[in-house]
Amino acid sequence: MSKLQFDGGWEYAPAPESTDHIEVNERYGLFIGGEFVEPASGEYFATTNPATEQQLSSVAAAGTEDVDRAVRAARNGYDKYWSKLSAADRGKYIFRIARMLQERAREFAVIESLDGGKPIRESRDIDIPLAAAHFFYYAGWADKLDYAYPGRNVRPLGVAGQIIPWNFPLLMAAWKIAPALACGNTVVLKPAETTPLTALKLAELVRDADLPPGVVNIVTGAGDTGAAIVDHGDVDKVAFTGSTAVGRAIMERLAGQDKKYTLELGGKAANIIFADAAIDQAVEGIVNGIFFNQGHVCCAGSRLLVQESVADEVIAKLRDRMETLIVGDPLDKNTDIGAINSAAQLERIEHYLKLGRSEGADVYQSSVPVPKQGYWCRPTLFTGVSQSNRVVQEEIFGPVLAIQTFRTFGEALEKANNTPYGLSGGVWTDKGAKIFRMTQGIRAGVVWANTFNKFDPTSPFGGYKESGVGREGGLHGLSAYLDLVAGEAA
Ligand code: NAI
Ligand code: MG
Repeated sequence: MSKLQFDGGWEYAPAPESTDHIEVNERYGLFIGGEFVEPASGEYFATTNPATEQQLSSVAAAGTEDVDRAVRAARNGYDKYWSKLSAADRGKYIFRIARMLQERAREFAVIESLDGGKPIRESRDIDIPLAAAHFFYYAGWADKLDYAYPGRNVRPLGVAGQIIPWNFPLLMAAWKIAPALACGNTVVLKPAETTPLTALKLAELVRDADLPPGVVNIVTGAGDTGAAIVDHGDVDKVAFTGSTAVGRAIMERLAGQDKKYTLELGGKAANIIFADAAIDQAVEGIVNGIFFNQGHVCCAGSRLLVQESVADEVIAKLRDRMETLIVGDPLDKNTDIGAINSAAQLERIEHYLKLGRSEGADVYQSSVPVPKQGYWCRPTLFTGVSQSNRVVQEEIFGPVLAIQTFRTFGEALEKANNTPYGLSGGVWTDKGAKIFRMTQGIRAGVVWANTFNKFDPTSPFGGYKESGVGREGGLHGLSAYLDLVAGEAA
């Protein structure tokens, strides 16, 4: 249990969110053509709660035949219904999804925390409201696409195949589904194998919202199912978020195929703290940047570059703050850091902890208690690392921060850019001019100044270098789901 003993002798009482109102079926089929169907494969797999290691439900593993069935349903949904509707009516359906998500927010938040391990405070205040916000935002675009691209005609692509990861399960589903539908496409979406439940709940919601059959199809399964979507001949667009390794494999498979694609991959972002920054505020920002969602964030601030003159102060404050973070029950409203998403991910993080030590890093771990059952990782710092260390170059995807120092602006920028990634970055300083120079210099899709991990459906998101191809979100996120052709707007 997440109880915290302070020096003063007081502690937070447990404040677990109730699960009474939650309905999770023992078993889920595939959501194809507007209804749940048994998989032709006949196979199911378990999804568990990473905080307890207990099984929550059993979900269908879609094989090639099932994926084909889902793509045919999506094509049918496109030909028969979605492409026949007026854009304004399409928008109304998407608004309906957004409103129903808001109404059922608590249910979605609890299931997200149960299935994926993230603290309820985050699923309740960030994941679910932002998912609804994406549907609201893109619903508004549905009948205004011609104004988004003056002088050009816009056409939907057709069927979008979408593959998402486990770190923001419902939010990633919303990122993918909302713009696709607004632009007039139909979708086949595959959630990650460790976190399928909120996508399946979304399927129920889509059914309750009376969307025409086949407009949204949800198929569950692991990498093979994803690969079958990528390879399907009648998919017009592939949207993927996940690891750089799989993203690269998908790109290779797509070479020579006539499909549009967007890939949103890994990151190794630097948070850069100058000596003139508001230090306490910056320390909070770093904590949020790397410990938020157990560090399971592609744009996490997983590196800290701190100006030498304030390094000791910043590191001391960081350590103090890490001692007060509560690691434990994701359903407890006081919890700061929940469960690591899976045994495999914990293993990967622990591999990097060992690797860091063998590379000569000093490792500091907070001494906070963690539960016995489940997958946990205490907040961790690496110091004494250099630019060539693998723990400085590679994505760890856990609550692990690599700290380096710098003396000059140029050195900070050089180090910030010196990884294969380029998804995000953060700069902390009192000087506007430094912010502008740094944001111009960092080769990353998003750079935050004096804040971190702020998201909004109107802002485009995406990477440079090995962090991906294309942009999602905002106006940019529309063109990823449209063909733009010359001509007069209708
Ligand atoms: P992954 O990239 O294997 O999984 C992401 C999604 O892709 C899942 O839905 C998975 O079923 C699917 N997938 C797997 N293989 C596929 C294939 N060959 N074709 C099509 N779809 C496929 O990521 P994994 O193994 O869960 O995590 C490994 C590492 O990846 C993490 O430690 C982390 O560093 C990184 N990662 C990055 C994410 C991001 O948002 N940038 C999200 C998840 C993981
Ligand atoms: Mg799970």
